[in-house]
Amino acid sequence: MNVLIIKGSPHEKGTTSLLAKKFEEGARAAGHVVQEIDAAHMDIKSCLGCNYCRKNNGICVHNDDMADAYPMLSDADAIVFVTPLYYFGFTSQIKKVIDRFYAMNSELRAEAKMAYLLAAGADREDWAMEGISATFDVMCRYLRWENAGSVLALGCGSREEIKESKYLSQAEVLGRSV
Ligand SMILES: Cc1cc2nc3c(=O)[nH]c(=O)nc-3n(C[C@H](O)[C@H](O)[C@H](O)COP(=O)(O)O)c2cc1C
Repeated sequence: MNVLIIKGSPHEKGTTSLLAKKFEEGARAAGHVVQEIDAAHMDIKSCLGCNYCRKNNGICVHNDDMADAYPMLSDADAIVFVTPLYYFGFTSQIKKVIDRFYAMNSELRAEAKMAYLLAAGADREDWAMEGISATFDVMCRYLRWENAGSVLALGCGSREEIKESKYLSQAEVLGRSV
């Protein structure tokens, strides 16, 4: 299967990059092909809501790195959203990619895909991931994708904290389960 990891952290070597790495190791060990979109380090512009794509066969008015990302999204059987928790939701970096799904909504909704969420935040309260979990779940329902699982790493504000946590092994196990 083709697995596409979409990373939304500005930190190339941060907390969530370790979650992504472990998931990738698991998925590769299970024989899957893994590709990656590093949203924060690519030229990806915000959706303008101009509806140009609706009048031009799904072609976006922006000419940026989403041109490479669109075929990867199309080819993926499983899509993994990896993000630090920013104000209890996705980072703006990964949200830009999600909003740009708009240009290929119909195609994406017609394709059976599995979706995964890997998130990390500094807070320890059990409600801290409620917002992002609910958003992810509703997004999956809209896209008609299977919400195939998540790792929600509470109390992980740094690399050191996540290294000592149970969450990296959870990400590896989830990757193997694809
Ligand atoms: C702008 C900003 C907003 C944040 N908001 C939250 C939050 O709402 N809840 C939380 O638990 N942690 C929050 N954090 C902490 C990060 O989610 C946490 O440090 C995470 O491990 C960073 O991951 P990274 O190293 O992969 O970027 C925030 C950090 C920043 C910079």
